[in-house]
Amino acid sequence: MTHTLTNDQLSAWDRQNFVHPMTQQAAHARGETPNRIITGGEGIYITDRDGKQSLDAFAGLYCVNAGYGQTKIAEAIAEQARTLPYYHCYVGHGSEVSIKLAKMIVERAPAHMSRVYFGLSGSDANETNIKLVWYINNVLGRPEKKKIISRWRGYHGAGLMTGSLTGLELFHNAFDLPLAPILHTQAPYYFRRDDLSQSEESFSQFCADQLEELILAEGPATIAAFIGEPILGTGGIVPPPQGYWAKIQTVLKKYDILLIADEVVTGFGRLGTMFGSDHYGMAPDIITIAKGLTSAYAPLSGSILSEKVWAALEQGSDELGPLGHGWTYSAHPLCAAAGVANLELIDELGLVDNARDTGAYFQAALHDTFDDHPLVGDVRGEGLLAAIEFVQDKETRTFFDPALKVGSQVAAAAFDAGLIARAMPQGDILGFAPPLCITRREVDRVVDLTKNAVQAVAGKVL
Ligand SMILES: Cc1ncc(COP(=O)(O)O)c(C=O)c1O
Repeated sequence: MTHTLTNDQLSAWDRQNFVHPMTQQAAHARGETPNRIITGGEGIYITDRDGKQSLDAFAGLYCVNAGYGQTKIAEAIAEQARTLPYYHCYVGHGSEVSIKLAKMIVERAPAHMSRVYFGLSGSDANETNIKLVWYINNVLGRPEKKKIISRWRGYHGAGLMTGSLTGLELFHNAFDLPLAPILHTQAPYYFRRDDLSQSEESFSQFCADQLEELILAEGPATIAAFIGEPILGTGGIVPPPQGYWAKIQTVLKKYDILLIADEVVTGFGRLGTMFGSDHYGMAPDIITIAKGLTSAYAPLSGSILSEKVWAALEQGSDELGPLGHGWTYSAHPLCAAAGVANLELIDELGLVDNARDTGAYFQAALHDTFDDHPLVGDVRGEGLLAAIEFVQDKETRTFFDPALKVGSQVAAAAFDAGLIARAMPQGDILGFAPPLCITRREVDRVVDLTKNAVQAVAGKVL
């Protein structure tokens, strides 16, 4: 049976029945905030129920990396649904497609990684990672080594543990988070450093020193792992300052602390390399993957494990029996089929190289257009991940009163003109993460539309 709905009916149902994540609930229910119902997508464009087409320069939530309308992925999911919609992977079971995907991921991962545990979301993958780290330290006979260090402005999910790892106030407020075993250290946010005289290298050293101080204050024997995104994502799209990861890894090695690279955003090409770890010379013990793994055609995440982590799991199960961890939908065949087709497509279309080359073109165009703009304090990014940050006074680096919501105003002006860029949650920051198939001509359009939006808001707030 098909239902014919008028737009008004859908909107009424939405406001009465649907609890949206990351939304002002009361205002939405009262009809004071937009109710955008998306009905289709092709390439880098989406269409809503009113027929409005928007250039999606944030690829959904930086996840539709292959772009919309990729029939190869859609058909792979449909074919898998016809052949075997589901079987679990507990107690040594599996499906052909999930085993194939694990092999494809390991082939693309840094050389010392050898195994994949599958989940469904970035949050549950990081939850798995913390459990594995605790399990490993119990197996290795150091049960006191359990605390996890994350960074302020890091984003690692919205669960109890992962919301605690996340270093953004919005995700803690009124949720009684962060939970006790999670500690936060300095964000590697050069533009917002307190001491403006610091060079990037000296600020990186400052971040590493802050980390070491925290480790020493807590006791190195109590610290199990450090988690970080190669580039801070939701916390503001902030590439690390020069030398940051080398200095951080020196400290972690000194105190025998595991490194979890959260590559939910950066994995599978966004920075112009297969992984952000490759780009920044990181040697993680665990890598978190999600979004770009299936280009969001189906929900799938994973924890890629190093040989060292795997050896501890082997030892643990020989001593303790089966690993007591799993989800019904781990390695779901439909999602795995999407993953295989998506990774093949990334290779066929050369999307990692495109992220590097078109990404460099995009970054240069943003610098050319905004470096001297009076409203823009910082232009930053890597590959096809970028941000511009707005300031009230460029010379003195004075930020706007958050109540003015300058970043949101620019995003709204861009949206009216047909461009989706994301107002990041903490600061007046406009983020870009377009599908990796974007062309130079499309980049020109993104930059032009952004320029007009910035100009319109500058006229009101400066
Ligand atoms: C770096 C990072 N880790 C984890 C997550 C959480 O992923 P999910 O929303 O799929 O739970 C996100 C989501 O944006 C992310 O950006």
